[in-house]
Amino acid sequence: MASTETTGTERSALQDLARRHLWMHFTRMSAYERQEVPIIVRGEGCYVYDEHGRRYLDGLSALFCVNIGHGRADVAQAGADQARELGFFTNWSYAHPRSIELAARIADLAPGDLNRVFFTSGGSEAVESAIKLSRQYHKLTGNPLKTKVIAREVAYHGTSLGALSATGITGLRTPFEPLAPGGLHVPNTNTFRLPHGVTAADLAEHVARRIEFEGPETVAAVIMEPVQNGGGCFTPPEGYWQRVREICDQYDVLLISDEVICAWGRLGEWFGAHRYDYQPDMITSAKGITSAYAPMGAVIASDRVAEPFMEGANSFMHGFTFAGHPISAAVALANLDVIENEGVLENVRGNEAAFRDMLESLRDIPIVGDVRGAGYFHAIELVKDQHTDEQWTEAESETLLRGFLSGELYRRGLICRADDRGDPVIQLSPPLIAGPQQFEEIETILRPVLIEAGDRMRRLAA
Ligand SMILES: Cc1ncc(COP(=O)(O)O)c(C=O)c1O
Repeated sequence: MASTETTGTERSALQDLARRHLWMHFTRMSAYERQEVPIIVRGEGCYVYDEHGRRYLDGLSALFCVNIGHGRADVAQAGADQARELGFFTNWSYAHPRSIELAARIADLAPGDLNRVFFTSGGSEAVESAIKLSRQYHKLTGNPLKTKVIAREVAYHGTSLGALSATGITGLRTPFEPLAPGGLHVPNTNTFRLPHGVTAADLAEHVARRIEFEGPETVAAVIMEPVQNGGGCFTPPEGYWQRVREICDQYDVLLISDEVICAWGRLGEWFGAHRYDYQPDMITSAKGITSAYAPMGAVIASDRVAEPFMEGANSFMHGFTFAGHPISAAVALANLDVIENEGVLENVRGNEAAFRDMLESLRDIPIVGDVRGAGYFHAIELVKDQHTDEQWTEAESETLLRGFLSGELYRRGLICRADDRGDPVIQLSPPLIAGPQQFEEIETILRPVLIEAGDRMRRLAA
């Protein structure tokens, strides 16, 4: 166990202060009346340490963010150097060297003619911006009624009111309704639980049918992730993206690839669009763009989409003060250097099969129903009965995930995500520098905990 500089007195003070003042996101705060707030104090490579000096394998890259791993002094230094040179200047009417250099570098890496970069401060802002950009694009090109956005059920696209209208998770939407109008949803690519009579090859056709139903003259954009996070790493069936692209072209609808998670090596390529070989009109990105050493997001738009905004008196009537922040841009450039110079994409490609094999090896555990995903982005779906793939009830899922799995995995030193926004899944998404040693550690913790979880659930049901 590593030591930590935090003293005992500071520790309890931090716990008290956290309980009293910190409002944690998507968190049942009352749970911390009975248990400690997990306070992570430092990180190194694939590991983080809590205030007690306990080490955890960060099997979630701190929420799909820290692609190059924790504790990179060189990346931190790039931010510090930039802060000394120019701590801040905005991208509203002005530019600064780092945002220009970063935009050019991203354009170079992005697929096809995605050459214009609109920075944001994070993922929801990127999605919000892409939705607004689609609407204004259609107004500028003579289609003012095109305002609706088609997304997929159970997909997460962020929390601001516009992005939330694309998010397809009922429980996240209802507390805030009415949302921005025009968010529509079609089935996702959950091929593990295809509805009766539906084949994987049919799934893209739902997009066409929905556009027809709404009236093509009212639909602005389709937004989807290369691999859908919500519901647990749904991969696209063969030919899915190519068909969605055809449909968008047929109806003059913009295709947004939401790569807030899937870009920057997560799937072993710079972008998910590379992995599945399609050409979006826009990519939304955040998280791994800086490996989260500083907050940043971006919309990467094609020349065709950007063109009407570049003419005459036109402008995109939208912006955020901190978007393209020079410190974040400098950090992003240093992060891209690491990915490029240290073979990070190659590491994912070279080890993806070993990662998958380790997860597949867990299929002998009775509650493991499915293993799916791509690159370093995988999920295990937990089922009541492996032979019938019977689902848990909501109450059982709550007992399984919140009552046992989340806490026990953390207690044993593994940070991963136990998620029940769809059927219950464990998601694993380690830093892209992880390899066989970390996979072995994940298995050593996960296997006995999943076995015990199954035993407990059976005992409760008896
Ligand atoms: C696909 C996708 N889009 C958008 C977002 C929102 O990003 P942020 O939390 O940075 O606002 C997320 C966050 O996880 C995401 O996974």
